[in-house]
Amino acid sequence: MDDKTFNKFRALVFKKSGIYLRENKKSLLLSRLGKRMRDLDIKDHKDYLNYILNDNSGQEIVQFLDVITTNVTSFFREEKHFEVLTQYMKQWLGEGQRKFRFWSAACSSGEEPYSTAITLLEATKGYQVDMKILATDLSTRILASAKKGVYTEDKISTVKKPMLSEYFKRVTDEGQNLYIVKDSVKSIISFNSINLSTPPFKMKGPFDAVFCRNVMIYFNNDTKSALLKDIARLLKLGGILFVGHAESLTGQLSELKAIKPSVYFKEK
Ligand SMILES: C[S@@+](CC[C@H](N)C(=O)[O-])C[C@H]1O[C@@H](n2cnc3c(N)ncnc32)[C@H](O)[C@@H]1O
Repeated sequence: MDDKTFNKFRALVFKKSGIYLRENKKSLLLSRLGKRMRDLDIKDHKDYLNYILNDNSGQEIVQFLDVITTNVTSFFREEKHFEVLTQYMKQWLGEGQRKFRFWSAACSSGEEPYSTAITLLEATKGYQVDMKILATDLSTRILASAKKGVYTEDKISTVKKPMLSEYFKRVTDEGQNLYIVKDSVKSIISFNSINLSTPPFKMKGPFDAVFCRNVMIYFNNDTKSALLKDIARLLKLGGILFVGHAESLTGQLSELKAIKPSVYFKEK
């Protein structure tokens, strides 16, 4: 791929997703585009770029973004966050709160919102509560797999045994063990497509907690600031924002206060 075409792809990715592909990411882009181009039997990258730009149905840009996005995730990733969530749930329940709203803002294949739901179901045992999680992502392919909630044995290795038997149904398919998230967990989650690079978002909030983890690393500072400003608007006073451990938000969050590494609090 020549540099001119590479830069056009970079500009397109940025415009459509806010993802800032650095100059050194050409080989990553080449490997991501390879399969899609083979499927379409397109050999030249310029031809593929034109194919996307001339596709009036808008379908190809969706396919393109699907191959560009990195979906690495796992159940109870950055486990401390779920411990913090449990502590806050205990506090809020103690204060009499019974209605709770959460947002998993780049939910990938579902491990994050399902881990959140399981944490919440555990924390609210014995209480009558109204609890909902909004789980969103840009990638329609990954959202479809999140909604299914079917995981192979290697994916559930970070789920503790008692939770596995309580919240998953095990089935065997062609000799392979599969774990399906039970309806009791699925029923508190709604999945939807939201592009985080285009705030303000339609939701009114307020959310008790927002998970926006391991996605801002792909954004530049302007995109990050606009996103964080809208998350701050959507959080309740006293609400919590969880970001990825590798994500530094220094200087970008005047309304939110760091209470632990990668955990922020909207001051009352
Ligand atoms: C590395 S995964 C992180 C998943 C999960 N939050 C976690 O920490 O395990 C990043 C996710 O961000 C999504 N993503 C990338 N750009 C996005 C955008 N502009 N809007 C919404 N989601 C986006 C990708 O599709 C991917 O599923």
